[in-house]
Amino acid sequence: MKKNSVLIAGGGSTYTAGIVMMLIENRDQFPLRKLKFYDIDEQRQKIVADACAIIVRERAPEIEFAATCDPEEAFTDVDFVMAHIRAGGLPMREKDEKIPMRYGVLGQETCGPGGMAYGMRSIPAVIQLIDYMEQYSPKAWLLNYSNPASIVAEATRALRPDSKIINICDMPVAIKKSFADILGMKDTDIVERYYGLNHFGWWTELYDKDGNDLMPRLKNHVKKWGYGPAGDACGNPLLADRSWLDTFRKVKDVYAVDPDTLPNTYLKYYLYSDYVAAHTNPEYTRANEVMDGREKTVFSECRRIARNGTAKDTSLESGEHAEFIVRLARALAYNTYERMLLIVPNNGAISNVDPTAMVEIPCIVSKRGYEPLCIGTIPNFQKGMIEQQVACEKLVVEAYREKSYQKLWQALTLSKTVPSAGVAKQILDDLIEENREYWPELK
Ligand code: G6P
Ligand code: MN
Repeated sequence: MKKNSVLIAGGGSTYTAGIVMMLIENRDQFPLRKLKFYDIDEQRQKIVADACAIIVRERAPEIEFAATCDPEEAFTDVDFVMAHIRAGGLPMREKDEKIPMRYGVLGQETCGPGGMAYGMRSIPAVIQLIDYMEQYSPKAWLLNYSNPASIVAEATRALRPDSKIINICDMPVAIKKSFADILGMKDTDIVERYYGLNHFGWWTELYDKDGNDLMPRLKNHVKKWGYGPAGDACGNPLLADRSWLDTFRKVKDVYAVDPDTLPNTYLKYYLYSDYVAAHTNPEYTRANEVMDGREKTVFSECRRIARNGTAKDTSLESGEHAEFIVRLARALAYNTYERMLLIVPNNGAISNVDPTAMVEIPCIVSKRGYEPLCIGTIPNFQKGMIEQQVACEKLVVEAYREKSYQKLWQALTLSKTVPSAGVAKQILDDLIEENREYWPELK
C-alpha cells in the first residue's frame, strides 16, 4: 500500500492528540509516511505538537512528524488535509452562544444566529486552506469537518466549485454508535438511509447486513429514552457530559413530531428552540464547559507528556469517534467503495429540493471521489424545514460575498430559531460589533 502524507489543519485543537493516536492505531489500514500540523496559533499548536511528537516517536517512529505555522511548509507534499479549524477559537464560540441569549434566542455553535456568525468567520478561513492546498499540493484532498459545516459547504460550492474538498460531520456517526449500543450490535453492521442538511437530517431506514429492519426496535427505545441508554447506565463517553446526555434524551420529543423517521439530535434547536433557550444558563454555555473541561484536561495532559518526555502512561485516548475520517481517506486512497454520509451538492438526489442545496446523504466513496445515492421525494414537513434552512445558509454566503448587511439580516430573520425581524436585527448588530476582527465590513 502506498503510504500517505497527512496534514492536520487545526493542530492546536483539543481533538488533535486523539486523532493522532487514532491514525497511529489504524495505520495498518491507512499507512502514513508523514504527519504534519498546521495552525495560525503557534503557542496553542505547540502544546499539542510537543506531546504528539513524543507519541509518534514512541508508537510509530517510521512516521516523519512536524508542526508549523508556515503555509508552504505545511501544504507541500501532502496527500490529505484533515481540517478541523475553529475561526476565532473558543472565546468567539462563547460569544456566538451568549449574544443571542441577550434577546431570549438560543445560542449554539452551529445553529441559529451563533452558527451564522461562526459561518461568516469560517468561510474565509476554510477558503484559505483550499487555496494553500491547490497552490502547494494540487492533487491532495481536503477532508473538512470544520464548522458550521453546512454554511462552509455552501461557501465552498459557491466560491471554489472545482476544489477537491469533501465536507463531513461526525454527528451521524456518533448517533449510529448509540443505535448500535441500544441494539447491542456493532455500528459498522448497521446500514443507513438518511437525508437532510448538516446537523439537520433524518434517518428513514436502518437495517442489518442481512436486510432486517432495525427501525421498530429503535423506535420503541427512542419513545422512552431518546438516544440515551435505558436507565442511568451509560457507556458512551460523549454522554459523560450532562449537556450531551440531555440532548440525546430530548430526541424523545423531537422524534414525536415525526414518528416515521429518526432525527438528528441537532433538530432540537429548531423544533424546541423556546425550550432550549429557557434551559440554558446565559452566563455559562457549552463553550465554558469545553474550556473548563476538555481543553484543560487535554492541554494539561499534553504538558505533562512533554515534561516527562514520555507518553507511555498517558490518559489521552484515541479519538475513536474520528475513525470515519480514516475510512474516508482510505476509500479515496485505496478505492474501497465505502458507503458514507457526506455533505454534497444535491443535484437531484432529493428530487423535490433545490438541486444546488448542499445536502447530507449516503455516498459511495472511491478513488474518483464520491457518488451520491438517490433519495427521491421527501415529505412536506422535512421539505419545508429544509427549504427554510437552505435559504438561511445561502443568504449567509451571499451576505459574505456581497458584504451585505441586508442579506445577513434576512438570513437571521428566516432562521426558525429567531422570533422576528426586530429581534434578528438586534442580535445582528451585536454580532457585528463583536466580530469586527473577522467579518468583512457589511454595507
Ligand atoms: C458534534 C458535532 C460537531 C460539534 C461538536 C461539538 O461532534 O458533530 O459538529 O462541533 O459536536 O461538541 P462540543 O463537545 O465541542 O460541544
Ligand atoms: Mn458536526
